[in-house]
Amino acid sequence: MPAKLIMGTEVREKILEEITAEVAQIKKKHGVVPGLVTILVGQNPASISYVTLKVQTAHRVGFKEVQDSQSEKISEKELLALIDKYNKDDTINGILVQLPLPKHIDEKKVLNAIDPDKDVDGFHPVNVGRLMIGGKEVKYPPCTPAGIQELIVRSGVETSGAEVVVVGRSNIVGKPIANMMLQKGPGANSTVTVVHTRTKNMDLHCKRADILIVAAGVPGLVKPEWIKPGACVIDVGVNRVGEKVSEKTGKKIAILKGDVDFDAAKEIAGWITPVPGGVGPMTITMLMKNTLKSLKFKLGIA
Ligand code: GUN
Repeated sequence: MPAKLIMGTEVREKILEEITAEVAQIKKKHGVVPGLVTILVGQNPASISYVTLKVQTAHRVGFKEVQDSQSEKISEKELLALIDKYNKDDTINGILVQLPLPKHIDEKKVLNAIDPDKDVDGFHPVNVGRLMIGGKEVKYPPCTPAGIQELIVRSGVETSGAEVVVVGRSNIVGKPIANMMLQKGPGANSTVTVVHTRTKNMDLHCKRADILIVAAGVPGLVKPEWIKPGACVIDVGVNRVGEKVSEKTGKKIAILKGDVDFDAAKEIAGWITPVPGGVGPMTITMLMKNTLKSLKFKLGIA
């Protein structure tokens, strides 16, 4: 029987409706709404489209949204001063600096300058540490891993005692999701293995997985014979493998392919995320959730 599709596009709509309702309630009771600033440096087309979507989504759920676009030529000192301004701004609960930054700016320095209590991306070392400790320490789980966990839980997949295999060890996906799945608590309590480019017999590890999370950035890396029948397969890969003309708009759009051989894998897996439409839509959704959480922490209602 083919796998059940885990549609991030549908889960996104549900969560955004939940957030919109909660924002309206807080506005009525406390007279404030969450504020999110998105700082974009330069004109990277992919970054522009991500930031535009973030701002539109923030607007949709009733946030105060600020898009602060800066010239590619902004100095590191000026960017740090801008972050300091938003750190001190009482109406801003979340600060996001869109990555990548131009080469003359030290990305680490910039991320470290964001107030950890406004770091809704969850990239600041303080929040990485909080994630590692787990439980009530966690304030802002990074958005893509948080979206992955949400998809698994909302699909009704058992995580407690499950063998989770994560393919890839990036700071943004692999390491944090591995950490989250091994914590004590609902949606976790798993036994976790992380495999990477130096792993021997990657296929044998994958084949043991009840939940296989693939974030390698290699199109079609995971073959159907690597998948345990009935497993839950989460494909985080978004690889541009070509271009086509959109039937809807007539414009050129990227052809996207995941890290999993989807057509064959769906005949073996129990659950699977498509690319696009699976994990992708969850990242911005969880950014909204973290920003709302930030305001709730401030109001003492989280
Ligand atoms: N660039 C690509 N993805 C992200 C993200 O999740 N957060 C930030 N800040 N920049 C990105």
